[in-house]
Amino acid sequence: MILTIPDVLSGEPLARAQALLNAAPWVDGKVTAGYQSGKVKSNLQIPEQDPAAQELGSIILRALENNPLFISAALPHRVFPPLFNQYSQGHFFGTHVDNAIRQVTGTPHRIRTDLSATLFFSTPEAYEGGELCIEDTYGVQSVKLPVGHMVLYPATSLHHVRPITKGTRTCSFFWIQSMIRSDAERTILFDLDTTIQILNQENPDSQQPVRLTGIYHNLIRKWAEL
Ligand code: NI
Repeated sequence: MILTIPDVLSGEPLARAQALLNAAPWVDGKVTAGYQSGKVKSNLQIPEQDPAAQELGSIILRALENNPLFISAALPHRVFPPLFNQYSQGHFFGTHVDNAIRQVTGTPHRIRTDLSATLFFSTPEAYEGGELCIEDTYGVQSVKLPVGHMVLYPATSLHHVRPITKGTRTCSFFWIQSMIRSDAERTILFDLDTTIQILNQENPDSQQPVRLTGIYHNLIRKWAEL
């Protein structure tokens, strides 16, 4: 499932994030690439240990913890500390797949990358090219979102960022280890949760959503890994 989550950041947290991004040091993005992807990657990143990256990361993680759509779709177990990249004219990231396991730098923790996320910090009008293209079973999905919006997609997908022909594109990207490893099972749970919420709104006095909620939790109990 590929899902857009609108307004992950807005208002004061978004303004603070934009200020940090403007003042941050940007270095060659090959630092976080593996051997294969290093050959197809051309962009800039904020060093992981930089205080700006860490403050930006906590702003995003706090926003995600309070975002019901993200929680329902990702069923997160662990979230990798967000990273930040910037593409200007001539920058691109060729077709690659993200590493399955990522070590959280400076800690003993490892994360299995079930989901990839990209959060946009540039308006779509601020650059040309730079679409995130995700290879899906339905074909290639081309993604370019408004500021503060985020796309969530299975980390198993091949993807690339098209070359920038004009302007600058700044994004955050990171990975999520879900309690539910399988994309298919996670999608069923998301559809079920969405349906329960609609039924609750349409008929708040009905007992049937309670039964469905029981089924939802029993499926999580059956499929979850902690
Ligand atoms: Ni990638």
